[in-house]
Amino acid sequence: MFRPTLNLSFDFEKMSMEFINKTKCSQNTEHRSLDSIRASLLDPKCTGPETVYSINMDVYQESHLSDLQQRNQLYGVVMYASGKLGQEAVRSQGHLHAISPFSQTRTGEVYQIWQGEAYICMQKSKDEGEFSFYAVLAKPGDIVVVHHDWIHATVNANPNQTLVFGAWCCRDYAFEYDFVREKKGMAYYPIYNGNDIEWIQNQHYEKVDITLSTPPSYEEFGIKQQECIYKQYTKNQNLFEFIINPNKHLEKWDLYKKNITNLYLNRSLYEV
Ligand SMILES: [Fe+2]
Repeated sequence: MFRPTLNLSFDFEKMSMEFINKTKCSQNTEHRSLDSIRASLLDPKCTGPETVYSINMDVYQESHLSDLQQRNQLYGVVMYASGKLGQEAVRSQGHLHAISPFSQTRTGEVYQIWQGEAYICMQKSKDEGEFSFYAVLAKPGDIVVVHHDWIHATVNANPNQTLVFGAWCCRDYAFEYDFVREKKGMAYYPIYNGNDIEWIQNQHYEKVDITLSTPPSYEEFGIKQQECIYKQYTKNQNLFEFIINPNKHLEKWDLYKKNITNLYLNRSLYEV
């Protein structure tokens, strides 16, 4: 397991975590049950893990709380159960970040995997031209950055392991689900064939391109792959302003998009 510079312990059976010493969490754990997400599944009657995922928003080291509040920045820790939901991988349904009252814009997100494997799925909106679907396969220590205007979802890519990850986002977070619900999901569904994920296109969209890749380096943002993202914040507290206030960092986001387009052009090299 990747070790972040936060002090936590996990109970994978109970899908819960504990915060130790100066590592705190201001909110109660939110557990999402299989019954509560049945309506969004391909097979609503399927069997699967009773608790599908657990979320702890606002995890921090005591000494950083006031700085994080001032910056409108928040760290969350999330667990996704092992197993399958019928033929489907354990996943979130996909959302768009609502406009933050603090920054008056949509906000981004930075993930870091601690245990297991995840596909972080992203979908360009139609406002940017055609839809396109992009999924990054991330392993322990890997960092994945999500653009503020893109719908995204997380998939547990390994049915034999509980997925655990941390993520930076904004404190005044809110989610929009309307578009994804109207389309019955993102453009592709992760479906198991044995223990391998296959991507099946959602027929509620016209044909959509798909790119699968390993995590980019994200040099444009000055972040370092494989180094704890909480630690990177403590070393440079302004580092993640590009997700909280993206309009102040538009050149970096332009480069991010360019690098992803290059990935797409060279996708055979990057296919996982
Ligand atoms: Fe998100």
